[in-house]
Amino acid sequence: MLNIHQLKVAYGQSTILRGVDLEVNTGHVVCLMGRNGVGKTTLLKSVIGLLVPQSGKIFFNDEDLIQRRPDERARQGIGYVPQGREIFPHLSVRENLLLGLAARGEAFDTVPAEVYDLFPALKDLLHRKGGDLSGGQQQQLAIARVLVTKPKLLLLDEPTEGIQPSIIDVIEDAIVRIKQTGVSILLVEQYLQFAWRLADEYYVMEKGTIISKGSTKDLSEEEVQQHLTV
Ligand SMILES: Nc1ncnc2c1ncn2[C@@H]1O[C@H](COP(=O)(O)OP(=O)(O)OP(=O)(O)O)[C@@H](O)[C@H]1O
Ligand SMILES: [Mg+2]
Repeated sequence: MLNIHQLKVAYGQSTILRGVDLEVNTGHVVCLMGRNGVGKTTLLKSVIGLLVPQSGKIFFNDEDLIQRRPDERARQGIGYVPQGREIFPHLSVRENLLLGLAARGEAFDTVPAEVYDLFPALKDLLHRKGGDLSGGQQQQLAIARVLVTKPKLLLLDEPTEGIQPSIIDVIEDAIVRIKQTGVSILLVEQYLQFAWRLADEYYVMEKGTIISKGSTKDLSEEEVQQHLTV
């Protein structure tokens, strides 16, 4: 479904991604792991089109995305939940969700019921300002806001970062249920146990290149020690 080939991305003079190859098959959860600053977010931003690569190709369902704007990529079925969530702090929860629907180019006055199936807590928060929510509530809102666009591929950047354990469980359950609906997921995650439980395949990035990949069930403790622990 997603096929990244020899992707090179730089910020000005500093090259960050140095020829990344990565694939996400339909219906799979793929976890991209790696220490701070190796280029994980840079990769997701390149997939949604917020960064323009120096070279390389990104195919989504066999179509080359490179010339497409971020909003076109979103309409083609790519949903992006950014690191740090980027909720609109002065808009209500309901307005944040309706903006997701507006992005889909549809009439927007009602929040789809599926949102509350996945994240029941949001129902009681509809009129609260986004900025007044806890980190965990914001993360649920950020995922819900993208889900209303009905993505086929979900890009999730560190959904557990700074979030309390009970809410991590809610988010994990939601990701499992999203996967069951056939959505493919590219998950950037440093919380290993979470990634281990959810992902079918893993990639490990170091300094802008993929240094290891495989099936998550074969990911060894040794490999984790070598590449991922600080
Ligand atoms: N807008 C920018 N301009 C210049 N350099 C940047 C910019 N954004 C990120 N970088 C640098 O690019 C490198 C990769 O950053 P990126 O955010 O992709 O890493 P990451 O793997 O997502 O890290 P983290 O785990 O901390 O989120 C880092 O060295 C970072 O300092
Ligand atoms: Mg990051």
